[in-house]
Amino acid sequence: MASGREQWSSRSGFVLAAVGSAVGLGNMWRFSYLTAENGGAAFVILYLLVTLIVAVPVLLAEVVIGRGSQQSPIRALAHYGGRAWRPVGFVFVAAGVTILAYYGVIAGWTVRYAGMALFGGFDSGIADRFDDIAQGADAFGFHLLFMGVTIGIVAGGVTKGIERTAMVLMPVLFVIVSGLAVYAATLDGAAAGYAYYLSADFSQILSLEVLTEASGQAFFSLSLGMGCMLTFGSYLGRDTHLPRETALIAAADVGVAFVAGLVVFPLIFALGLSDKVGGSTVGALFITLPQAFAEMGPIGRGVGLLFFASLVVGALTSAISLLEVVVSTAIDGFGWERRRAALTAGAAITALGIPAAWSLGVLDVMDQVANNLFLLGGGLALSIFVGWRMEDPIGEAKVGAAGVTWFPMWRNLLRYVVPVVLAFVLYDAVPKTLSAVWGLFVGE
Ligand code: PHE
Repeated sequence: MASGREQWSSRSGFVLAAVGSAVGLGNMWRFSYLTAENGGAAFVILYLLVTLIVAVPVLLAEVVIGRGSQQSPIRALAHYGGRAWRPVGFVFVAAGVTILAYYGVIAGWTVRYAGMALFGGFDSGIADRFDDIAQGADAFGFHLLFMGVTIGIVAGGVTKGIERTAMVLMPVLFVIVSGLAVYAATLDGAAAGYAYYLSADFSQILSLEVLTEASGQAFFSLSLGMGCMLTFGSYLGRDTHLPRETALIAAADVGVAFVAGLVVFPLIFALGLSDKVGGSTVGALFITLPQAFAEMGPIGRGVGLLFFASLVVGALTSAISLLEVVVSTAIDGFGWERRRAALTAGAAITALGIPAAWSLGVLDVMDQVANNLFLLGGGLALSIFVGWRMEDPIGEAKVGAAGVTWFPMWRNLLRYVVPVVLAFVLYDAVPKTLSAVWGLFVGE
């Protein structure tokens, strides 16, 4: 066992790094377009329920495995479950690689938009140019830039790279996003945005499809189902109160998503761009909002800069955590030095982003595969692992949290509720996703 394993330097360092992982494009880009697509507040309510009942138990499961084993995912699963579980760990790492490959491309767009706001401002024709901005050599260039920064930080180490970045950047993100929500409230027409966002169309909530979207979003947003939180947990000491930290991380993640909605919807409605949200897709945020900023004149440039800067920050701290999964696996598995691992893994992932940088269709399918197959499948595996396979998960969870009495309920959720919900959802998601992949290859 790696006795020289790195450790977070403080409790808040771990929490902020984990919140940094959770809060990202998922909270602002994905959350708002899925909410728009799936009936406003009805979707939000379902998402909150799934987060509480399905995702949070898995989050606690991941940090329990990570802290208990002090290992990266593949070894951690083998530690408690035997060698038969190693393939699941491999799938986790593959998920990290896939997600980061396209996530880096979208993050590249955010860098570019922040740069546009800074150096020239937005013009109203920007919406029509989205396809050019999002695809091609430029998109790859910004992806490369973003990945370079990510690699540099991960190479710096757990405390000096990952933790320090989160400690500095996450508070900045909180301040910007709340400030923007306050500003958005002052806009004429903001009320229509709130009405859309906060009033529920319950006719949509009961479909399996919406449950699938809500579950996928809950896992993506909390960085679950691929060993990311497990890896971060492996740098924790045994004195950590895991339930408390887990609750804090989940609350911060949900909170930022909710507040981001309070920014996005008023802005879109105040500027009369709501017709554009209905048919929202992957690009919604990058099409509608710059147009809103363009129409707002000089102030739009400032608001746009802040908005996209917060997206860059969120994306960066999430990308760091994705890369860390692969890097820690290479360090533990091959005995590589951290710098070598960061550079090698980072370069390979950057290259894998090439297809996503050249085609929105590929990017969209990668997002579906990552969520619907990898993360939800990973969540199912983790719930079975901790619910049924691991010898004494409650004993592990109790370390540092002796006073907590609801651990048996947690384990029962992992045994009977989480796998059943996820099995249902996968039943819906798997065929859909496979046919999307198929469509990509045969050209629709
Ligand atoms: N949670 C991140 C976000 O919301 C994305 C992510 C998924 C990060 C999986 C790590 C692992 O943007």
